[in-house]
Amino acid sequence: MTDALLLETREDDKTAAWWRQAAVYQIYPRSFADANGDGLGDIPGILSRVDYLADLGIDAVWLSPFYPSELADGGYDVADYRNVDPRLGTLDDFDAMVEALHARGIRVVVDIVPNHTSDQHEWFQEALAAGRGSAARERYIFREGEGPDGSEPPADWVSTFGGPAWHRVADGQWYFHHFATEQPDLNWDNPEVRADFVETLRFWSDRGVDGFRIDVAHMLTKDFAEKLPTSAELDLIPKDGNHPLIDRDDVHEIYAEWRQVFNSYDPPRTAVAEAWVAADRVPKYASPDSLGQSFNFDLLEADFDAPEFRRIVTENLALAATSGSSSTWVLSNHDVVRHATRYGIPVAQDSDAPTRHGGQWLLDGGDESVLDREKGARRATAATLFLLGLPGSTYLYQGEELGLHEVAAIPAEDRQDPTFFRTGGDEIGRDGCRVPLPWSADGDSFGFGSAGAHLPQPAWFADYAADAEASDPSSTLSLYREALRLRHPLQTGETLEWIETGRADVLRFARPNGWQVVTNFGAEAFDLGADAADVVLSSRALEGSVLPGEATAWIAPAGLLG
Ligand code: GLC
Repeated sequence: MTDALLLETREDDKTAAWWRQAAVYQIYPRSFADANGDGLGDIPGILSRVDYLADLGIDAVWLSPFYPSELADGGYDVADYRNVDPRLGTLDDFDAMVEALHARGIRVVVDIVPNHTSDQHEWFQEALAAGRGSAARERYIFREGEGPDGSEPPADWVSTFGGPAWHRVADGQWYFHHFATEQPDLNWDNPEVRADFVETLRFWSDRGVDGFRIDVAHMLTKDFAEKLPTSAELDLIPKDGNHPLIDRDDVHEIYAEWRQVFNSYDPPRTAVAEAWVAADRVPKYASPDSLGQSFNFDLLEADFDAPEFRRIVTENLALAATSGSSSTWVLSNHDVVRHATRYGIPVAQDSDAPTRHGGQWLLDGGDESVLDREKGARRATAATLFLLGLPGSTYLYQGEELGLHEVAAIPAEDRQDPTFFRTGGDEIGRDGCRVPLPWSADGDSFGFGSAGAHLPQPAWFADYAADAEASDPSSTLSLYREALRLRHPLQTGETLEWIETGRADVLRFARPNGWQVVTNFGAEAFDLGADAADVVLSSRALEGSVLPGEATAWIAPAGLLG
């Protein structure tokens, strides 16, 4: 790359398009770092770890909800959208955190949960008190029940977390909740609801927030006929934009309004949709007139398999091109089994449900003798380096840079996830990836805080502690740091070209400036030949010119790194 081009890339990085190829690190605040010693992570805890985040080399952080919440769903039940949970700090703490992150060149994305509020939100409390027919109930979705005395739910629908999707209140009316009972769905036909979220977006934008992650962005608008379809009927309705509950075309009217808000800031605020929709529906959310970017979870749902990875990458780059957005890549987040673990258990231990990979193994007790930790770790870092080399943004989940595995051994009485309780334990839930981080190999709660951790940390967390890994050049943390550091000067145009390797289990691609990524998904070593001399990073050490199995190498021809 010439000096001029290099400069251009760095300048571009600083502009409104920073998000297009960013490495974004997801913080689950209640499990990150606990500064006030109450067992829950908090905003001052994040502030105390800004150096760690800067050393990691990420471009942005995305904070899962830190708002006041009764924690019926880990904070995704928001009681006040324009405040910080007092257990996590104050708005002043938030401002100080944003300032410190910005000072280190790290942008801040916050989570917006518009589909539902907490049942503790003042609007819902008002709706309960005000009774049927009131304006307060119009902010939610209340209906009369079926049967002579209205004691049957308006429909037999099942909530996403299991159990019924309708709940009866004291005066006999029912309300709809896609998720837990404590998460009543908002009525997005109500202009007051729309206006309030615009105010929330402005509130955080005015505080210097750079972007938003939109929770279940495909669920907000609904079309309820007089006679509701049964659950079985609902399943048969195509999800083509007119389904009564999911991925309706009219949801984009909301995002068009939000886009005006985002674009009224300089630089424009960004947004990324969490939209679990068919691949051909994703571009609507990712369009510049809508949210601008959307997650695709295809790699997260895929096996560690070269043809599958190649197909997914090719498809998603083509889809992103149709919307004008960049693609996103994700292997782990707060809702799924950590990828080091998914890749370390036999495929037969996986359940069929797409987002529940590893769930069956957990339900069976998380047998350590079945989990191959080393293999999982090898594959996880190989996959991560593959992702970080792709055009587009990569979203990383806290703890994966330490090589953390899922925590399987959580006693039922310590579990928090509503999916565990609402399914009577048929689903194990997501607590195992939300266990507070180990910062030090010893000390109270491995350095998380001074008063224990709100989910139990296993003894093996000591082997993954950030302080030990920071001083070990062969650690997963050191590899992530080096990859994220190199990714900046290597970053280039948003395309790739596949290079045939002669092996079905080895993928190789080149970016426009000559940066190449080779991933060996197989067990057999792969000879890089003369290119081995240009390897600038590899997830496993090369043996001569040979890339071992389950490993990725980055190749940068002479001059690319100056
Ligand atoms: C999203 C969140 C998940 C939450 C759900 C309901 O899928 O990622 O954690 O439980 O929405 O808000």
